[in-house]
Amino acid sequence: MSQHRGAWKNRWTFMLATAGSAIGLGNIWKLPYMIGVNGGSAFVLVFIACIFFVGIPLMMTEIMLGRRAQKNPFNAMQQLAAEANASSLWKYLGAMGMVAGVLILGFYSVIGGWVLSYITFALQGSFTAISPAQSSVNFDNLLKSPYLLITWHTVFMVMTMWVVARGVSSGLEKANNILIPALFAILLILLGYSMSVGDMQAAYHFMFSPDFSKITPVAMLSALGHAFFSLSLGMGSVMVYGSYLQRNVSIANTTICIALVDTLLGLLVGLAIYALVFANHLTPNAGPGLIFQTLPIAFGHMPFGNVFAALFFTLVAFAAWTSAISLVEPTIAWVVENTQVKRPFATLCLGIVIWLIGIAVSLSFSVWKDITIMFGFGIFDSLDKLTSTIMLPLGGLLMAIFAGYVMKPHHRQDELNLGIRYYTIWKITNNIIAPMAILLIFLYLLGLIG
Ligand code: PHE
Repeated sequence: MSQHRGAWKNRWTFMLATAGSAIGLGNIWKLPYMIGVNGGSAFVLVFIACIFFVGIPLMMTEIMLGRRAQKNPFNAMQQLAAEANASSLWKYLGAMGMVAGVLILGFYSVIGGWVLSYITFALQGSFTAISPAQSSVNFDNLLKSPYLLITWHTVFMVMTMWVVARGVSSGLEKANNILIPALFAILLILLGYSMSVGDMQAAYHFMFSPDFSKITPVAMLSALGHAFFSLSLGMGSVMVYGSYLQRNVSIANTTICIALVDTLLGLLVGLAIYALVFANHLTPNAGPGLIFQTLPIAFGHMPFGNVFAALFFTLVAFAAWTSAISLVEPTIAWVVENTQVKRPFATLCLGIVIWLIGIAVSLSFSVWKDITIMFGFGIFDSLDKLTSTIMLPLGGLLMAIFAGYVMKPHHRQDELNLGIRYYTIWKITNNIIAPMAILLIFLYLLGLIG
């Protein structure tokens, strides 16, 4: 016996929630540092191309699958496969996505914890006139303290699970309705600040004057992988959000809006960060430490730096929170729709599992540093690489194949409801371009090319 399913109130709340899922640490923490590490503007260009040719069509595909079935990813794939007279093994595509969500949240929540602790650092005024060496020491001290990491990871998990436990309308919808507009308001304030005290021109030049010689195969592959992560594709978050969507909403229009907002936000945050970084003559290629090590130095040498740093990390925390919610929703929907277990209890149990994974991740920065689990990578890197470079693209590839080659054509046409021209564009990108691009990643990973 299944329990009552949730539904979004309208198209707007669906868009906010899906944008909330998409906008996250991927945009604010990962994209800016990937731009820095991969040589700036050239990477931006490739990333935008990946969003258009792979991200947008696959997001349409994933929403389409969810809305047609109106079920959690596991049951959705099961039902859609039955409808297409295809193998019931397709349901495991849904299952793989749920596992990916749990694994991602295991490390995502730890980074969410770093962000929360940085809000408190900023509020205590710790960044004032901080030197580069001190800033590195601060960050290292955090990473080397399992106690601090676990405490903040726990806070982040409680915040996430509290929202999910409340259900679609009073949890997910409400949180996104408040946090996403707040996030944009903070972004505007930060952009204004960055424009007045930072070096916008240098940031703009760094991000938007393409130097094609810097487009390497590695940069292209990481841009493609990141397009998946950034749009939350390939693991069922978007599918389950689509399953709560009304039939009369245009999938194409909403997808394009969400993808544009997600990409634009990432780029604007990048501009705001780099303007501050360049104004202080700091280097843009710090990698994962960019917002935690480099940026505090910049804030610390600018007027009202601690206040704006606190605002910045609050923005990052809101973004991470709304994404974290979407990482667990597929699994929770599956439990609620297939068992008698109530949502709050299911959330608590799943929360404990993810919390334990997060503890392992937290320890992997200090006492468990030498433990490797996959290809010589530590726990944190293994989870990150396994999910973003393998599970999400694989999930996306299989969804594209299912929608393009397995589903009955009139079913997908009904659901997408596009004119012939746009339908053809979707079909070419979904059936040919996106799968080829993903296969290229895998071939590269297998060391066959490049
Ligand atoms: N899109 C999120 C981000 O950019 C991460 C995420 C991936 C969320 C997959 C849900 C599913 O941070």
